[in-house]
Amino acid sequence: MAPIQVCVIGCGRAGMIHARDYAGGVRGARLYAIADPSEQARENAQAELGVEHVYADWHEAIENPKIDAVVVVTPTAMHRDIVVTAAEAGKHVFCEKPMAASEAECEEMIAACDKNGTKLQLGFMRRFDESLQHARRAIDEGQIGDVVLVKSLTRGPSHPKPWMYNVRESYGPIGEVNSHDLDTLRWFAGSEVRSIFAQGGNFRSPEVADEFPEWYDTVTMSLTFDDGKLGLVDGAQYVQYGYDARVEVLGTEGSILVGQQPRETFVVTGSDGQVRRPMNNSWTYLFREAYQREDQAFIDAIVRDEEPAATGHDGLMAVRLVNMGLQSLLENRVVVDDSRA
Ligand SMILES: NC(=O)c1ccc[n+]([C@@H]2O[C@H](COP(=O)([O-])OP(=O)(O)OC[C@H]3O[C@@H](n4cnc5c(N)ncnc54)[C@H](O)[C@@H]3O)[C@@H](O)[C@H]2O)c1
Repeated sequence: MAPIQVCVIGCGRAGMIHARDYAGGVRGARLYAIADPSEQARENAQAELGVEHVYADWHEAIENPKIDAVVVVTPTAMHRDIVVTAAEAGKHVFCEKPMAASEAECEEMIAACDKNGTKLQLGFMRRFDESLQHARRAIDEGQIGDVVLVKSLTRGPSHPKPWMYNVRESYGPIGEVNSHDLDTLRWFAGSEVRSIFAQGGNFRSPEVADEFPEWYDTVTMSLTFDDGKLGLVDGAQYVQYGYDARVEVLGTEGSILVGQQPRETFVVTGSDGQVRRPMNNSWTYLFREAYQREDQAFIDAIVRDEEPAATGHDGLMAVRLVNMGLQSLLENRVVVDDSRA
């Protein structure tokens, strides 16, 4: 069978991770093209990966009938237009998270893929992380009894970019780092989130507090699920000590812990009795294999004609939960999703 010909649209930080995967290592696929309006990004991708077809305008790429699938890794505001146009052209679609700016856009994207019979996989790579998959299997096998509480945290090391301080546009850490945790909570709980109460504060950037009084760099969220389970999320940016992602599941008969963060496996013990090991400092490193596995899974879903493990519905629900979380934080109240009541 001929390989699935992939075009990566948007070759920045995350786009190049996918492009590298498709350039080598994903069975049954080949990196056929890239598209990016930035000359620098195109040159970098071509120099590193030797891509045959290079486009400045994604519309032209989508018109090429030899492209079977697109991987959409542009800034989020463009996801809707690219995904709908690609689906209309019969291309299978992988779309990075957050899926889009609003639930209405997510619904349009899902409808376009459904109508045209094309796959739509969302970039929740944690669903492909081996340790998290083991944890999910342990839950399914009843190893900890019934799930009672799912806790997940993500903290990033880097200084916020200036555009992030307006949380009504960027959502702040709830959107930047916690959309993954919110997806993990739904995945492990096997139920939808009914309510969220979020609280936060600006602890590390006092210099922007006057101009951006709503900016928060740290947030906690307390959640309930439709079936009564409980959830806890914490998120933070600019923690400086490293990239930290951990999950704990409490059951009626045990608990599961996922999340060791060493960058290397060596440990140094000095004469002072202190134990030292290098801390992981980037999501690109911590989830490297998870990205490879999600890229392989996208091709497998196309070839086997199966539903992807992270769907458009998962993307839409994450957008809904991020919106609920921010609303709760800004209005200091519990926000309830009663759409299923
Ligand atoms: N799954 C994850 O954990 C994860 C991690 C990082 C980023 N992301 C998501 O991936 C997307 C990209 O983020 P990033 O950090 O790589 O951003 P980035 O700024 O590093 O890269 C974006 C790239 O898109 C290009 N671009 C802009 N307009 C374009 C257009 N019209 N057509 C094609 N390309 C265009 C830019 O030139 C740039 O090269 C965002 O939706 C982001 O939220 C997901």
